[in-house]
Amino acid sequence: MPKKENPAKRIAELRKEIQKHNDLYYKKNTPKISDKEFDLLVKELQSLEKANPDLVVESSPTLQVGSDLSPQFSKFKHKVPVLSLENTYNETELSEWLTKTGIDEFYSLEWKIDGASILLYYENGKLAHCVTRGSGGIGDIVTENVKTIESIPQTLSEPLNLSVRGEIFMTFADFEEFNEEYGGKFANPRNLAAGSIKQKDPLDVAKRPLRIYVYDVYFSSSRKGTNKHKDIVALLKKEKFPLAPDSTIIQGKTLLKEIESFRNKKDKMPFPVDGLVIKLDDLNLRESLGETSQSPRWARAFKFDALLKETTIEEIDFAIGRTGKITPRAKVTPISLAGTTVTYATLHNQDYIDQLGAGIGAKVLISKRGEIIPAVEKVTVPPKSVFVLPKECPACKTKLTKVDDSVDFFCTNRNCPERKLNQLIFFCSKKQMNIEGLGERQIQIFFEKGWVKDIPDLYTLNKYKDTILELDGFGEKSVKIIFDAIEKSKEKDFRFTLPSIGLNEVGPKVTEILIEHGFDSWEKLVTLSKSKNAEEELTSIHGIGPRTVDALLAHLKDKETLKLVKTLIGLGLKFQADETEKSDIQPFVGQSWCVTGSFENFQPRDIAMDLITKHGGKKVSGVSSKTTHLLYGPGAGSKLEKATELGVKLVSESEFLELLKKEGIEL
Ligand code: IVH
Repeated sequence: MPKKENPAKRIAELRKEIQKHNDLYYKKNTPKISDKEFDLLVKELQSLEKANPDLVVESSPTLQVGSDLSPQFSKFKHKVPVLSLENTYNETELSEWLTKTGIDEFYSLEWKIDGASILLYYENGKLAHCVTRGSGGIGDIVTENVKTIESIPQTLSEPLNLSVRGEIFMTFADFEEFNEEYGGKFANPRNLAAGSIKQKDPLDVAKRPLRIYVYDVYFSSSRKGTNKHKDIVALLKKEKFPLAPDSTIIQGKTLLKEIESFRNKKDKMPFPVDGLVIKLDDLNLRESLGETSQSPRWARAFKFDALLKETTIEEIDFAIGRTGKITPRAKVTPISLAGTTVTYATLHNQDYIDQLGAGIGAKVLISKRGEIIPAVEKVTVPPKSVFVLPKECPACKTKLTKVDDSVDFFCTNRNCPERKLNQLIFFCSKKQMNIEGLGERQIQIFFEKGWVKDIPDLYTLNKYKDTILELDGFGEKSVKIIFDAIEKSKEKDFRFTLPSIGLNEVGPKVTEILIEHGFDSWEKLVTLSKSKNAEEELTSIHGIGPRTVDALLAHLKDKETLKLVKTLIGLGLKFQADETEKSDIQPFVGQSWCVTGSFENFQPRDIAMDLITKHGGKKVSGVSSKTTHLLYGPGAGSKLEKATELGVKLVSESEFLELLKKEGIEL
């Protein structure tokens, strides 16, 4: 007979394990197991506690929701418990629940957005506190950080006391752009969004492309006239809160069919979703069903199967990024996952390898979500030994070092061949100088031949034209495309040339902000760097943080960087910004415009800004004493308050449209 395990011992083990994973997910934003595996642990603990009620304690994780509390924030006692959702993973589980709640009832079916949960407390109609879910009972006050999300209404149309619940998230596109600027150090949009609202400095948060969708309202007193979920949605819509697309009210019997149409769309969503949420529409029915200490009985999450597949690590090699960052990569036995063949999966860094226990020969689970590169998620069969990163750069043998408090190792040799190669690949890429025909393969060939060792060599490559034509795979036509594209890249202005040379912290966004603030050429930046108040001046620019200022000033004084830019200018590249298209009608000359909130006629709102610059105005990203006008729309936040304080002229969307009409400017 098998030995019966001591339930008290197993319960203690499970509680410890669950607590550990709760902390990894909610506090460190670095989950190590999938939601499904986590749920299995909780289910095992639940059934043991059910069989042994005398062993149940109030602090058991089965009675608490996971906590995201961090010590550095002030705490807020939630007005109602902030509950979580019980997960279902298949149609059978969902149908069982549906039978209990009523197959003929109506339900709201919504995307489950993978971000960070937030409560927006309104007092007398004014946004008073923004609080994380925390333990469900108390949360962290992150008001100033969350207020940087401009689509959140600061005031309601009535002096109501209520709280709005939503999810702060990042789109895949925003995540990729932001992560690229930071050398790819963030693992996924959820972790970055959750980490962002816990930053110390709201100015740093303002730099991050956070967004919000809201999905519920809790009323402080009676919810007069609000009997259905759809009434809540109508209220949120009326108050101009951002709502997720596709939410729909359906009858229970059509749920499984509807789920299929969501499933088909899932991989095309521009933001991360980790399933669906199904909620009873009738609020009175919800009340009668009630809730457990963790989750309501009237709602369920439906998780799509996680895209995980098993394979074996055959080798581990390294990507040496253009900034010198070393990223270990597992070369795996090829598998087909979400429509592509995966041969490499990232292992991020040594800490990650250690936590997984990964090494050559290990059987592992690989994930692929959205646009993000595949990652090793879990070791299912351990290797003989856990992999240890070398102490030296695999390409140039320079000793690897850690920078600041980063978990990553860097090769600091700026002439490291791998680094150089990746700089070249980045420079030529579509988003940068867009040199058609020069992809990774072609660049690698020219690099290995020694024809292109550094960026300037691209512009003298002509001398090898005949030799290139002798190479396999380089015909007249493809070689012409390359040389035409190299020549055409000289038309790209400072908006492209500056971020393309791969200076850390100086990506497209920072460049755009610098240009907006009048630093529209390399020369102007160098002159600034020589002035006494350079640091002060740069720090005062909204959207440029202290780390960027330090890095930028260092680049502007660095001899090799100065030499590189001088050479490129000599070769005909533009290191000044082009004038933006100007019109004969110039009503905005001498004016400095800032824009905030959302607009009906200008989506994205850059369309409004472009009209202003085209007709003589200057656009600025933050309100200061130099700003003359603020164009504001619903969801305008702290910028509107600041502009009011400073006496900046406030212009609403309809006033702006009037103004354009009066001047004869067409949309
Ligand atoms: S409703 C009591 N709706 O999922 C009902 N939650 O695992 C509470 N989430 O903590 C939540 N999208 O952060 C709801 N459309 C949606 C959601 C959603 C994402 C998150 C939320 C919650 C977690 C539960």
